[in-house]
Amino acid sequence: MNKLSNKLSNESFPKTIDVLNSSPVYDASSKKDKINLIRKLLKEKDAKIIAHYYTHADVQEVAEITGGNVSDSLEMAKFGANQSSKMLIVAGVRFMGETAKILNPEKKILMPTLEAECSLDLNCPAPELLEFSKKYPDRQIVVYANTSAEVKAMADWVVTSSIAVKLIEHLNKKNIKAIWAPDKHLGRYINDKTNADMKLWNASCIVHEEFKASSLMELMKANKDAAVLVHPESPKDVIDLADVVGSTSQLISACKNLPNKKMIVATDNRIFYKMQKAAPDKILIEAPTGGNGATCISCAHCPWMAMNNLDNLIETLVQEKNEIFIEEETRKKAFISTNKMIDFAKTL
Ligand code: 13P
Ligand code: SF4
Repeated sequence: MNKLSNKLSNESFPKTIDVLNSSPVYDASSKKDKINLIRKLLKEKDAKIIAHYYTHADVQEVAEITGGNVSDSLEMAKFGANQSSKMLIVAGVRFMGETAKILNPEKKILMPTLEAECSLDLNCPAPELLEFSKKYPDRQIVVYANTSAEVKAMADWVVTSSIAVKLIEHLNKKNIKAIWAPDKHLGRYINDKTNADMKLWNASCIVHEEFKASSLMELMKANKDAAVLVHPESPKDVIDLADVVGSTSQLISACKNLPNKKMIVATDNRIFYKMQKAAPDKILIEAPTGGNGATCISCAHCPWMAMNNLDNLIETLVQEKNEIFIEEETRKKAFISTNKMIDFAKTL
């Protein structure tokens, strides 16, 4: 693994509790007014909202009821690419807005905030990945969607967690060796599943890295009938305890389809909004993020996803601010690797 990345320590990132404490709280009537205003603005501006499952339930709700989309990162990218509307409001983190712009250069892509980053993206700067890749000129560069447009531009493939194992299997069959960046846990998980020859970048998600196997085992003992659902950005010892490992959409499907009444869920807890809707009769339990006496920084909720709310959605729509711009040469190169992901997903 490279020694270059993870320069930014967890302490330099926002804490979820601080973001939530400074976020607006709405009573039922002001929430209704805000949703009505958003509906009107979306119509006027010919816009659609694309939201990730980790955003606040209000944001997911307004995306849903106004004909937008709530999904995982692959489905967000696919939905954006299939829209005829002139404007897309991407409620998530920056790489999701950039992916929408890469695939839809003719559309205006706005985000409720441009401050919503991702620890994987921040810990994988393009110049460092370039330096790393020069050591392995015979390998293709496969990057997770949680990266900047610059990183996507230098990659051979972009992939999301829902199809990462399948893509590496596909390359492995052709004897293509890979450099994998940035998530070391997802990379190791894919490596275990495929036995492919991969060189891994060394970055991680500050949210999933907090899940703890020892306290998860205690929770499992207390809930012997529960199924354990884990996102593959989690550490190996947590993944090893899972009944199902998958992207956010795959975890929601598993919750719906598994016979168990109880689910222990190791991913951002805002997924519970859609998960509960998909499986109203199931009991959802949050996987533990700290051992005995330990503290958590993100506490199973991404601080950057938490920055999206109804107020900044309205401001963005009214002022048409927080637009995503990508230098055209970079965008064109990033389009190739990102569009290959969309095409590859169609073959599955
Ligand atoms: P999904 O593609 O599974 O939604 O994951 C995106 C993400 O950022 C998970 O932390
Ligand atoms: Fe990035 Fe983790 Fe937040 Fe997903 S949950 S956006 S991987 S920091």
